Amino acid sequence: MLKARIAVFVSGGGTNLQALIDAEKNGLLPSGHICLVVSNKAEAYALERARQAGIPAVTLLRKDCGGQEGFEAALLQLLEREKIDLIILAGFMSILSENFTCRFPERILNVHPSLIPSFCGKGFYGLHVHEAALAYGVKVTGATVHFVNEIPDGGRILLQQAVSVLPGDSPETLQRRVMEQAEWKLLPQAAEMVAAEIIKGRAE
Ligand code: GAR
Repeated sequence: MLKARIAVFVSGGGTNLQALIDAEKNGLLPSGHICLVVSNKAEAYALERARQAGIPAVTLLRKDCGGQEGFEAALLQLLEREKIDLIILAGFMSILSENFTCRFPERILNVHPSLIPSFCGKGFYGLHVHEAALAYGVKVTGATVHFVNEIPDGGRILLQQAVSVLPGDSPETLQRRVMEQAEWKLLPQAAEMVAAEIIKGRAE
């Protein structure tokens, strides 16, 4: 059976990309194959992770594409050329326009480091999410994997996992716990769920 072809979009450290790479290597992503990594930041360590795993990686900078429209047009060309079935946003810190997301209904996944609908939407990304959770004083936070549509963090939720906030947490310690206990598990699980669905759809 042909596997679903996956592209992972990244901007930073790439620990979620690593979780996906490890899942594929360990047989936990049997329905999918990571074929491409795309970064919108030249300095992203995720690019090094892709290189070490032997996955083709491309850096696309918005400023080199003449803005958002050109950036998304270049992305589309790349995805078409690589015959990508599923896009995974793994710490991708750029909002995609409706013109882009509407081409991939329920075929773009995102991992967000909170229990949506808390601490999500425009301005809530990376460490800021955990800063906001601590400032509010919640005792439970977590992570969410959801489909991406035209509303930032607004698409249908696939998986969520709660994580405790502990006394004395800093944004960094909380971020690490949410990654370890939730993100790195949920994202490969969700990727396999959707990849299996794609393969099933082909067979019907
Ligand atoms: C992760 O915590 C991810 O959930 C978050 O950024 C971090 C990226 O880490 N994404 C967002 O906030 C998107 N709204 P990584 O580069 O090590 O995977």
